[in-house]
Amino acid sequence: MTKMSRLFSLKEKEHNAVQSHTLATKQMSYSDNPLRHIAIIMDGNGRWATTRHLPRAAGHTAGVGALRRVVQCASDEHIVDMLSVYAFSTENWRRPRAEVEGLMRLFWETIRADLQRLHRDNVRLCHLGRVYDLPPDVQKAIQESIELTKNNTGMTINMCFNYGGRAELVDAVRQMIADGCNPEAIDEELISSYLYTRDMPDPDLVIRTAGEMRISNFLLWQSAYSEYYVTPKLWPDFGRDDLLASVDSYSQRQRRFGRVKVPTA
Ligand code: FPP
Repeated sequence: MTKMSRLFSLKEKEHNAVQSHTLATKQMSYSDNPLRHIAIIMDGNGRWATTRHLPRAAGHTAGVGALRRVVQCASDEHIVDMLSVYAFSTENWRRPRAEVEGLMRLFWETIRADLQRLHRDNVRLCHLGRVYDLPPDVQKAIQESIELTKNNTGMTINMCFNYGGRAELVDAVRQMIADGCNPEAIDEELISSYLYTRDMPDPDLVIRTAGEMRISNFLLWQSAYSEYYVTPKLWPDFGRDDLLASVDSYSQRQRRFGRVKVPTA
């Protein structure tokens, strides 16, 4: 059973037989829009905490809960091959020192707490970003998680921690120059091969919570033709139903990649 048809059959249970014609049409549209990679901008932790008169750190802790729900759902339902989660940007260093330290600690604790379970679930962990700027214990946790899970064949999670789209392009250009690339040989394929995401599919769908309509330096090159799904829901409140709603919305998009109409297979 394909991933999309599994998802379809799950959704099918939620409908009655009278709607079978509509659902058959929907199944077609799922298969028309392959979904391999979802990227998520997890925004709204601070607002979630503030509205509850809690410190911002409580919002980030609740955000880890939402992340666990989404990972579990995406892995259990085989929704995608790859999930990229934006947990700390190269600009987030500008936050108050206590918040930055709290996020570093939370990331470290989350890897330590979840690594064995993710490994048992056959999840492969990768890191996108500048690992060398992170505290040594965080670097070590990232390296251990990548090493332990590198041969897993289930869903891949890209931990975007100290990630910036512009920094990624700077790193790629520096490396191309260091490698002595011939300017005439530089094309889109070559640039892609120098990004952190080399050999990975571009995100098909970018989800952003908390309602902001901006890209925030996330996967700038890779999201050139991604579909966007923005929800007003704050990240700590995001869950399984929201993920399924975003996939449903995606399935109804017409992806043209600059063409007039995508040719049918
Ligand atoms: C944006 O919300 C969120 C972050 C900068 C951190 C994202 C982190 C998590 C979801 C937790 C998982 C992360 C780790 C470290 C495992 P915000 O703080 O900008 O919210 P606001 O816009 O409402 O202030």
